Parts: sequence; C-alpha cells; structure tokens
Amino acid sequence: MPTIAVKGSDIQWQCADDDTIMRSALRAGLGFPYECNVGSCGNCRFDLLDGDIEELRADAPGLSARDRERGRRLGCQARPLSDCTVKLRFMPQYESRFPPVRQSAVLSAVRDITHDIREFRFTLDRPVRFLAGQYALLDLPGVAGSRAYSMANTDNDAGEWHFQIRRVPNGAATGKLFDALSVGDRIGVDGPYGMAYFREEAGRDIICLAGGSGLSPMVSVTRAAAASPRFAGRSIDFVYGGRRARDICGEDMLAALPRFGTHIRYHPVVSADDEEGWSGHRGFVHEVAERLFCDRLRDCEIYFAGPPLMGQAIQKMLVDRGVPPAQVHFDQFY
Ligand SMILES: Cc1cc2nc3c(=O)[nH]c(=O)nc-3n(C[C@H](O)[C@H](O)[C@H](O)COP(=O)(O)OP(=O)(O)OC[C@H]3O[C@@H](n4cnc5c(N)ncnc54)[C@H](O)[C@@H]3O)c2cc1C
Ligand code: FES
Repeated sequence: MPTIAVKGSDIQWQCADDDTIMRSALRAGLGFPYECNVGSCGNCRFDLLDGDIEELRADAPGLSARDRERGRRLGCQARPLSDCTVKLRFMPQYESRFPPVRQSAVLSAVRDITHDIREFRFTLDRPVRFLAGQYALLDLPGVAGSRAYSMANTDNDAGEWHFQIRRVPNGAATGKLFDALSVGDRIGVDGPYGMAYFREEAGRDIICLAGGSGLSPMVSVTRAAAASPRFAGRSIDFVYGGRRARDICGEDMLAALPRFGTHIRYHPVVSADDEEGWSGHRGFVHEVAERLFCDRLRDCEIYFAGPPLMGQAIQKMLVDRGVPPAQVHFDQFY
C-alpha cells in the first residue's frame, strides 16, 4: 500500500492501491481541500514532487495544461502507483466529521418524483453516519468514473441513504440508474463527502435555494433543521425552481414536517414565460429569492444546490447583496 508524505512536515498516510490521494487523506482524518470529487472544480490540486500516479479521469477539466506542466495533479483523481511525496496545505475545515467509507449498497426502493426526477433508496452493507446536505460517490456497473449524488434523507442507524436524481439526456450514470438498475441490485458507494452541510449551531433563519437536480441536499437540510431542537422557533424558506410547472416538486416532502406553513415555507418558481395557468412565482431562482427576501438575505444562513449556471447566478446575487460568505453553503454540481 503506497505511503503519501507531505514535504516539509511529518504528515504521512497510507493510500490503498485502488484509492485516490485526496479520498484516502480524508479517510485518515486529514483536511485535504476539495469540493466536487469528480475532477471538475480543481480545488483538490496538489504538487506531485516525487512518485508515480495514474489519473482516473485523464481529461479532467479541473486541471489545465499549465497545471500539468508544473507538476500539479488532482487529489480526487490521482491513484498512487508508488510511494509519493506531495506539496499541499491541509485546512482543518475539510477534516471529515464522519470520515468517508467505501462499501457496497443494495437498491431497496425507487419512486418517481417528477417526469425526470426519481428517488433511489439504497441500504448500505455497513451503516455510516453523515451530515444533512452531504453527498456520496456512486460507482455504477459499466460507467467509467464515480458520480456524486447528495442524500435527501438524514442520518440514521439503518444505513439508509436516499438520492433524488434528475435524469440527464444521454447521461451515462443516470441512464444506468433509470433504465438498467433494479431493486435488489448492488452498487459501490463511497461517502459521506461535502462541505454544504446543515450548520445546527448557526442560530439564524435558513433559506434553501434549489433548482432541478439540486432538490436532494436542500430537502435533507430542511428535514434536519425541522428535527433539530436547537433550531426550534426559527424559520426555513425553501425556493425551488424549474422550467415548467411539471418540473416543480418537493412541497409534499416539506409538508410532512412539523410547522410546515408557519415556520417552513415553500416557494415554487417557473422560468418559462409561456407557461399558462401557473399561479406561483415566475423567473429564475436567484431573481425570486432577491425579490422575496431583499435585505433579510444578510441575516440568514443560505444553502443552495442545482445546475452550475443557477449556482453561479445565486452566488453573484448573494455577493451583490453583501451576504457574508461564511453564511453561504454549497457544493457546486458538475
Ligand atoms: C457534489 C455534487 C453533488 C451532486 N448531487 C446531485 C444530486 O443530488 N442529484 C442529481 O441529479 N445530480 C447531482 N449531481 C450531478 C451528478 O453527479 C451527475 O453529474 C449527473 O447525474 C450527470 O451524470 P451522467 O453520468 O448521467 O451524465 P454524463 O453527461 O454522462 O456525465 C456528466 C458528469 O459526470 C462527470 N464525469 C464524466 N466522466 C467522468 C469520469 N470518467 N470520472 C468522473 N466523473 C465523470 C462529470 O462531472 C460530468 O459533468 C451532483 C454533482 C456534484 C458534483
Ligand atoms: S477536481 Fe477534485 S475535488 Fe473537484
């Protein structure tokens, strides 16, 4: 098993032959910076000073040609082929409260949420704890590379991890999940990962902003907040956007929570101008959130998830509104 050593320090850890440098560091309790885990964001870049690695995703967009020339690599995609010496700065906020574990899980149930979003319920072989809003990597048979999906439920002793997944046209992983996987089938699961988890201690009202594929982690955060005695008395506003009325979902899950309608409020948003008979909000999620909450945004803890363009628009709006970055939580989807 290769040993990974950090230059200029006494930090070193073991990385299993089929693991990556970043994931093995998190398993060892180290704060290796990261975000997406699939080679897209570049947050896990490190300098490879000595040793050989294999890149799981050779064309990963998170690494530029210049990075590569300078000896930089992606921790989430680097599988060591020998002992390695690396240069990087660990950060305590990335240390996992519940270190990620690789194992297998059985598909126990599925249910349709909309015409293109489905909930997939898996039971882990070995229950592992997670924080509301975190995600896991799913390894699907015949699909190259792991895919990240956020849990929609909350921590439980039964090892039940539920994922609400939007079908992507011609998508490799979603095609497999929607068309080929049956109840009783087994897949690989690795997690939990992610920094956009519910901050129980924050003491502020919550705003959750989601669109399309971003439903799952926002439902998880809302469920955890609704169940938290420390959060009692505070409010949650949940904005969910889709293109058309048939894309809108999530209200039934929130309506099952205590204090729905008083402390938990749901705001559906449709973006298509020509949607007839729609009586909810119209526009994009960031526009409606700005209209609804205005200056209140600065006093809230804000969680968001969804397609990359939506995420960028929300981020810009929050910066323009002067919301302190420490109150904003998201793991960018790719
Ligand atoms: C942190 C995070 C959380 C997410 N949570 C959810 C969620 O809760 N629900 C949901 O519907 N979607 C979620 N996504 C998006 C999801 O991971 C997939 O990108 C999406 O389902 C499309 O996958 P696909 O294989 O069907 O499509 P494809 O078009 O085949 O693949 C698209 C994506 O897969 C990744 N990818 C492609 N090739 C490789 C490879 N070799 N190795 C690794 N990655 C590769 C890339 O990120 C690419 O953007 C999340 C993404 C991230 C990063
Ligand atoms: S590229 Fe590795 S965490 Fe995003």
